[in-house]
Amino acid sequence: MNLKYINANEWIFFSNYNSPKGCQFESHNQVSILIYWASTNTQIRMKAKISKTSEEFSDQHFQGRTKEKNALAISSNQSEIIDSFDEVSKNFYKTLESMTPETNRPNFWGGYSFTPYYFEFWQGHENRLNKRHVFDKQGEEWIEQILQP
Ligand SMILES: Cc1cc2nc3c(=O)[nH]c(=O)nc-3n(C[C@H](O)[C@H](O)[C@H](O)COP(=O)(O)O)c2cc1C
Repeated sequence: MNLKYINANEWIFFSNYNSPKGCQFESHNQVSILIYWASTNTQIRMKAKISKTSEEFSDQHFQGRTKEKNALAISSNQSEIIDSFDEVSKNFYKTLESMTPETNRPNFWGGYSFTPYYFEFWQGHENRLNKRHVFDKQGEEWIEQILQP
């Protein structure tokens, strides 16, 4: 996930809405997000509710991207099985050539916004004496907890 914005409590990234994860988000809005930094032996785990960003927001972001990135977003049916990479490449260049400054965002591509209600900060230590620090939102309050390694 290429996180593009954090606006107040909303974390925003972009994707193909027809991709496997896009279809999963349609069937339920609960997600679990894991970020791990090997260099610092640190992990953050989040639980959140996810939804699409507004069409206006997705349009605005799309307009600010490079032509090449947008050509790829338009030409790729993300995660579909293909016969050869050549096919992808040809589709990409054909789309790129056909693009004008007026080319609009396709309706199958756009933003997702998720609002975390649970954070677990995990810090790895010697002998697996790992520290796990949780912030869990219950109602309007963030409850702080420490978990067993
Ligand atoms: C550093 C990095 C950033 C990524 N950013 C995104 C992203 O912003 N949006 C996205 O859909 N996939 C992104 N991906 C690819 C996803 O991890 C995933 O492989 C892809 O979305 C296919 O998922 P799907 O099967 O749900 O279509 C990124 C992968 C990496 C390694």
